[in-house]
Amino acid sequence: MRSVIDILDLTVEELDGIIATAEDILAHPDAYADKCRRKKLATLFFEPSTRTRMSFEAAMLDLGGSVLSMASAASSSATKGESVADTAKVISQYADVIAMRHPKEGAALVAAKNAEIPVINAGDGGHCHPTQTLADLLTIHRRFGTFDGLTVGFCGDLKYGRTVHSLINALVRYRDVKFVLISPEELKLPDYSKQVILNNGNAFEEVSDLTAAFPALDVLYMTRVQQERFADRAEYERLKDTYILTADKLTGAKENIAILHPLPRVNEISVQVDAHPGAAYFEQVKNGKFMRMALILFVLSHNDGQPVDLLPRWTGTETPSHVCKNPTCITHTEQELAPVLRDGKCVYCEQ
Ligand code: CP
Repeated sequence: MRSVIDILDLTVEELDGIIATAEDILAHPDAYADKCRRKKLATLFFEPSTRTRMSFEAAMLDLGGSVLSMASAASSSATKGESVADTAKVISQYADVIAMRHPKEGAALVAAKNAEIPVINAGDGGHCHPTQTLADLLTIHRRFGTFDGLTVGFCGDLKYGRTVHSLINALVRYRDVKFVLISPEELKLPDYSKQVILNNGNAFEEVSDLTAAFPALDVLYMTRVQQERFADRAEYERLKDTYILTADKLTGAKENIAILHPLPRVNEISVQVDAHPGAAYFEQVKNGKFMRMALILFVLSHNDGQPVDLLPRWTGTETPSHVCKNPTCITHTEQELAPVLRDGKCVYCEQ
């Protein structure tokens, strides 16, 4: 059985296969209208969402399946103290696949280790958001026909932006992708994510000036400053409008630039930019549903009834005396969950 915690849980061949399936669904939706008849998707959202939850639900309905929806932690027994592990065991008795969002890094891994059905991570704290990456990948692929050789700029909150970390994890596996990391000092890409780029031999540069970065970019991935991850409200207020993309700033951009944003946007892209041919963020929304359809089909086709087959990166040595230094790691709140170390890092939050 396969679960998807991070985009790295899928090989490049599997990613390419999921893109091909999504393209086929786009071309022949009726052929897929009954593929998940009698199957149920449980959407467990312990953190707010518009796109991810509704597109997962639309995806399952368009495949002929049904949906069990938990739209907020407030409406669940998490408010009574139920653990993620117990929740995953319980929902396994009702559904065939789980899509889960949770504010704690590593929560999706805890669910996957305890569920009897596949778990798809719909966002775990500031850690990963693999299905947003699927939406991003299809959007880039539909615009350029390839990922190889592209120069991709990430702009804004690269520290807390989980969609950035997941998309980097995907793109490093294609040939000669270059990264331009555009952020203020305080919101730079975490070291573990930079290490992913270095380990794969890709080039990156860190800059703070968006306008100066434009001429080199094929793709600009704008991000929202993640208010919900800041411990200090004043720090958020100081940084939130560091980058605001307006139509006039695009004069220095390549003619075929693609501007992506996982949404929701706050101020970082002016609505005037929506009319620019490069604006691809509402395409991302559309593509997200088709990629989630393809992913649901993928995980259900791999459910052989055996326990979930986790990659080695999600396993390690239990160290009950160790405490993860990341205050928003799931190990701090989950009942009797000892941190597990691999190569000196917590496998749950990778910090
Ligand atoms: N892109 C994204 O994750 O949006 P939601 O938070 O609305 O799901």
